[in-house]
Amino acid sequence: MVEKDSTAEHFARRTDWVPRAQPIEGGVDRVDLTETNPTRCAFSFYDEDLVAVLDSRAALEYRPDPRGRPEARAAVAGYYAAQGLEVDPSRIYITASTSEAYGYAFRLLANAGDNVAIPCPGYPLFRFLADLHDVEPRPYPLVYTDEWSLDPAGLRAVMDKRTRAILSISPNNPTGSYVKAHEQAALVRLARESGCALISDDVFSDYDLAADSRRACSLAATDDVLTFTLGGISKALGLPQMKLAWLVLNGPPPMIDEAARRLDIIADTFLSASGPAQAALSSWLERRGPVQQEITGRLRANLAALSRLNGSAASALLVEGGWSAILRLPQTLPEAIWVERFLVEARVVTDPGALYGFADEAYVVISLLPPTDIFSEGIARLRAVVDAG
Ligand SMILES: Cc1ncc(COP(=O)(O)O)c(C=O)c1O
Repeated sequence: MVEKDSTAEHFARRTDWVPRAQPIEGGVDRVDLTETNPTRCAFSFYDEDLVAVLDSRAALEYRPDPRGRPEARAAVAGYYAAQGLEVDPSRIYITASTSEAYGYAFRLLANAGDNVAIPCPGYPLFRFLADLHDVEPRPYPLVYTDEWSLDPAGLRAVMDKRTRAILSISPNNPTGSYVKAHEQAALVRLARESGCALISDDVFSDYDLAADSRRACSLAATDDVLTFTLGGISKALGLPQMKLAWLVLNGPPPMIDEAARRLDIIADTFLSASGPAQAALSSWLERRGPVQQEITGRLRANLAALSRLNGSAASALLVEGGWSAILRLPQTLPEAIWVERFLVEARVVTDPGALYGFADEAYVVISLLPPTDIFSEGIARLRAVVDAG
């Protein structure tokens, strides 16, 4: 138990987070294998054209609309149309980030103390988002054999009458696993039976690294159950600094109309997506081909560089998509010690699996975004530490 600071009583309990130990500086030639900020990863698509589109008359107008500017919603509908999905623009809400869209959904669905089921291992962000909206995060297990899969019984076991939503993240961060069609069918069935909503987070779906015919389609055009499909340009276009994302609302009538009526008020209260960014969205999305090609090329090259671990006691778990990879390490040492040794002996920064809620040891999570020469150097150094035992 961490001793509480005497100032704690001045603040809301929902913010009683235990601070994470800061990693020790790794020195000048430190290799940061946790770098997930694409703007720091030497991509060539960051050019003046991206900002030139902000310089328009449309950027000077303020046209508040809780669902976002019509041209921005049309651009998002076009993004789905290119995937063969017909999405009605009036069901799209433009937000400043996917995190904000989660907040809207939690606010709409849950009273304080209700819970949401979250895949585990998973990105720590969701625990904080749940805390901030007074919702209890209930981790449900993803299981790894030679690939990650959903354990429906494990999910059912964490759900109860107060479960308001199931999060389905495809591909998930950090497991890189896509939801398969049979898993999605189980999620939809469970949501329908228990009367809860589905929140389907597809932010990494464009970064497909291993073809698989079993993969589920986006739920952005399905009305089976109340569904919130989330996407955004922080990942789809490598533009986290532009602060633009979206939520597609689906569901059976009359539920969908009531959800939209309430969501309109939530969104109208904040109106936080920037007008200039919304005006630029269609031009940015038109560039997604080359942007995603460059990012995917990097991800693939870095995945290939993981072959530097071949013949060592460390190995990578299967990556189907997304921006991260998981390395399994010998259980001869606790994972926290591996992380510390990588930093101190090799000046390589990694994240422990525990940060993502892994049920057992020893794993580290790394980003596949860094430039490949730097990434390969990091992997070679990490291997040297593992080889030293
Ligand atoms: C799976 C997943 N969803 C959502 C987000 C948040 O995205 P945004 O930058 O749009 O808030 C992240 C951030 O990395 C993520 O990993």
